[in-house]
Amino acid sequence: MQDPVALLLTDRADRSAGIAAALEPAMACHVLGMDEPWTGSAPLAGIIADVDIVRSRTRQTVRRLREAVEPGDAPLLVLMRSRSARSFADAKAMGADICLLPRTSPHVVAQTFLAQTSPRQDMIDLTVTRAVGRAGRALNTLLDAARANETLDTEAFEAGVHPILTAVAAGGLIRWLDLVWSFDDATYQHCLLVAGLTAALALHLGFSEADRQHLVSAALIHDIGKARIPLAILNKPGRLDENELRVMRSHAAVGYEILEQATGFDAATLDVVRHHHEMLDGSGYPDGLRGSEISDRVRLVTICDIYAALIERRPYREPMKPADALQVLRDMKGKLDGDLLAAFEQAVFKR
Ligand SMILES: [Fe+2]
Ligand SMILES: [Fe+2]
Repeated sequence: MQDPVALLLTDRADRSAGIAAALEPAMACHVLGMDEPWTGSAPLAGIIADVDIVRSRTRQTVRRLREAVEPGDAPLLVLMRSRSARSFADAKAMGADICLLPRTSPHVVAQTFLAQTSPRQDMIDLTVTRAVGRAGRALNTLLDAARANETLDTEAFEAGVHPILTAVAAGGLIRWLDLVWSFDDATYQHCLLVAGLTAALALHLGFSEADRQHLVSAALIHDIGKARIPLAILNKPGRLDENELRVMRSHAAVGYEILEQATGFDAATLDVVRHHHEMLDGSGYPDGLRGSEISDRVRLVTICDIYAALIERRPYREPMKPADALQVLRDMKGKLDGDLLAAFEQAVFKR
């Protein structure tokens, strides 16, 4: 059987290349002009309509196309040209399953589309493999620069974040975790796990493009301070003594200092890097924050961080089973945000 493809119907071809490129790791995308018939034979995963739906002729074209290609179940995603109530009404009347606001980025169009469709497992695997490679390179470059006290290249780093969201949106969280578990480097494995889990939670909560991107970026970088922790402590098998623990715990404040001296990292990212070990009851570090002093984004990354640390694979110990790790988080009542933990459970376990 042929791979399912995405069909992009467009009346502004200048945008279509970006959307096709963002979908490409997971799914081929056929671009169709307004007056072109669809003559392909591949099964359709869904239709993206980047057209001016206020025109009745356009709406008819979309309807006809949808009926002709896959009656019933191919989702229709409409890229709106305006936020007006009329545009929404027209899109819904046309059978739109999802409406995206004007100027939604190609990456978010791709992520939203993939979350609605079911790419084949081998395509998901390929998407995840590429995304792990790109995110991993972005992370390593940053960790190396932090170790060597060199300038951090924020632009290259950000480019490694989109693919994580695309891979997880395509349904690749389990594959993501599997692949990342195979890495030996503890910090590398941990940061990629936290980033994948955060992507799943941010997508589940329906966060905006900017918030998703921000959160996953912060999750990927949250332990950058560990670049300055001696390897003998960082990779020590077994328990740390009191002095080693103090050094290890300094990574949150050290990470904050590293990013504060760099350019291109905003206050929200610095907040996550400094405070991801704070607990709602005030028992965390480095600042002993409590309750409302801890932002939602920090609470969210903290849940993913603790869960990732519990399920990580180390040569010297068995990883905790996912259900047991979840129970540990539930038992941390009063320390973690209960609503976000419930959402985490939905996002990661009930897929
Ligand atoms: Fe940490
Ligand atoms: Fe961490």
